[in-house]
Amino acid sequence: MLNDFKNKLLLGETYKTLKKLPDSCVDLGITSPPYNKQEKNNGGLVSKVIYDKFADRVPEKEYQQGQVEVLNEIFRVTKEGGSFFYNHKVRWDNGEMIHPMDWLRHTKWSIKQEIVWDRTIAGNIRGWRFWQVEERIYWLYKPIKNNKIGRELESKDAKMTSIWRNVPENKNPHPAPFPIWMPARIILSMLKEKNSIVLDPYVGSGTTCVAAKILGFDYIGIDMSESYINYAKGRVENSYKEVDKIEKEKSLHQVKKTFKQRKLDGEYKPKTRKPTLK
Ligand SMILES: C[S@@+](CC[C@H](N)C(=O)[O-])C[C@H]1O[C@@H](n2cnc3c(N)ncnc32)[C@H](O)[C@@H]1O
Repeated sequence: MLNDFKNKLLLGETYKTLKKLPDSCVDLGITSPPYNKQEKNNGGLVSKVIYDKFADRVPEKEYQQGQVEVLNEIFRVTKEGGSFFYNHKVRWDNGEMIHPMDWLRHTKWSIKQEIVWDRTIAGNIRGWRFWQVEERIYWLYKPIKNNKIGRELESKDAKMTSIWRNVPENKNPHPAPFPIWMPARIILSMLKEKNSIVLDPYVGSGTTCVAAKILGFDYIGIDMSESYINYAKGRVENSYKEVDKIEKEKSLHQVKKTFKQRKLDGEYKPKTRKPTLK
């Protein structure tokens, strides 16, 4: 049954399509859902995000409930010990802050980390608030039994830190694509076993699947727009054209000597600070 979905870009509504997937079949998921941005005014620096097929404007309560249902369905299809990386942002509407944690805490996932993506560029340059240059990436974890801790990251991956500073993608015709370094970083850090499957339930232009394919993993992508799915299929077929970008990300995942090894080799001597204030 899984073979009906493996290495496929599926045209369909996310929640309904997820319902067709078997339990515990996916190792890792990465996505950026529509943000329900309700964009009325934008600051003019970057163009408004206008999607094919839908308006990205629903009552916020309905939006959050829908995201909880989708995230719980992703939880069901993810293996124990698997992770899901959820890119979103802190929004501000009518003077009210809307934070992704408002609904993430209502899902079945264990929230492992909040990563800040410093895009270095603001989408809206009005002066109501300091220009918002950052988005967030939530690392959600499906515990094995009740162990929420999971395995340790290798030093070469953990050294990426919790702030990812890199510009967004600007050469992709999709209105809100991932820069490919992002899914590549997540896959390189998370997946160590071949035959693992990566899911992107709002796949858009297919960036997550291109990264998974280049790195030698299987993938499943879902999107409701036929034109995005067709574009993603072409991109995945021609993924060899994007190998260089992945190699660049790979080159960052290296460490000459781990901290543990430096300690073992006597190269690290902790200094004790003497109190100077009485
Ligand atoms: C932020 S974009 C994802 C872009 C993607 N990360 C990429 O690299 O191109 C969100 C995508 O979700 C799709 N989408 C929104 N609502 C959906 C739904 N209910 N079912 C399926 N796809 C949906 C949109 O068509 C859009 O392509």
